Amino acid sequence: MATNDSKRTSNIAFLIFGICNDMATMASAISYLYDNSKSGELERLRGLEAIEDAATIALLSVLKLPVDACCLEVGAGAGSIASWLAAESGKDAHIVATDIDTNLLDSSASEVWRHDIERDELPEDAFDLIHLRHVLIHLTKSSHTRVMDALFRATKCGGFLIAEESDLRSWHVDEYTPDAMRQTFSAGVDAMIAIYSSRGIDFGLGARLADMVSNVGFETIKSSEKYRSVQGASPEAAYQEVSVRQLAETAHIDNPALVPRLCAFADCFRDRQLQYRTRTTVSVVATKRGWTKEQCR
Ligand SMILES: C[S@@+](CC[C@H](N)C(=O)[O-])C[C@H]1O[C@@H](n2cnc3c(N)ncnc32)[C@H](O)[C@@H]1O
Repeated sequence: MATNDSKRTSNIAFLIFGICNDMATMASAISYLYDNSKSGELERLRGLEAIEDAATIALLSVLKLPVDACCLEVGAGAGSIASWLAAESGKDAHIVATDIDTNLLDSSASEVWRHDIERDELPEDAFDLIHLRHVLIHLTKSSHTRVMDALFRATKCGGFLIAEESDLRSWHVDEYTPDAMRQTFSAGVDAMIAIYSSRGIDFGLGARLADMVSNVGFETIKSSEKYRSVQGASPEAAYQEVSVRQLAETAHIDNPALVPRLCAFADCFRDRQLQYRTRTTVSVVATKRGWTKEQCR
């Protein structure tokens, strides 16, 4: 693993870049529906990592990266994947973890940038691997092409992109769940989608992800979908409950009429009688082919 000092000196320009963009970052932080500085947010993000990390690590483990690979983890959250990359890579590798709010990121494991992927620039042809998970869904739909294009330009020729997103439209409550709870659940999903939509967010992003990746020039190596059957009162249900309660707080500002529906929805996740299916994550592994910058474009 590279030392902090070597990380700092080799990327001083990147650090300056990050500091210079703090103002823009602060101005845009309100577009994110959740809040990394809230108490309980670390536990919520750790809950997400517990659900997703094994599958992400399985995808990352098979990539052949150079010993001095430069890797970028966008919207790193609590940072488990950046830490895994740092631990698994050689001492010459360089791991950068970004987020609009870096409070929860451990800077001993990787270089940390406060960076808004929707607004701030990325260095070009800089990374052998870029990974982002459940980040694009929090950006406005209108910025997706621009962000994907920036990720393409930031990837080195022969480098990899792994993008992973969810599809809220795929949530489907099981027929064995009691009728009243099914109605509460479906109304809750609709309320969630209404809030996402009012912020210009594409809640069905997972279904479009593979096309988005290839449209900017990446070549898809693998695209997989993870379906899960979730029971109330399980660890995954606990993560969803906290997420919905945070969303209910946002709804107080965005659309107060939705608050009761969201609170009732959140309660469902505590009940063992709840059973629902979801295509939680679509993962796309892609590469940037070509020998020259021109061929890569
Ligand atoms: C649902 S969390 C996912 C965290 C992590 N990627 C994971 O899967 O464990 C979304 C993360 O994206 C970050 N985020 C939201 N909007 C962002 C933006 N415009 N630029 C960079 N990060 C952003 C949030 O602060 C949060 O840490």
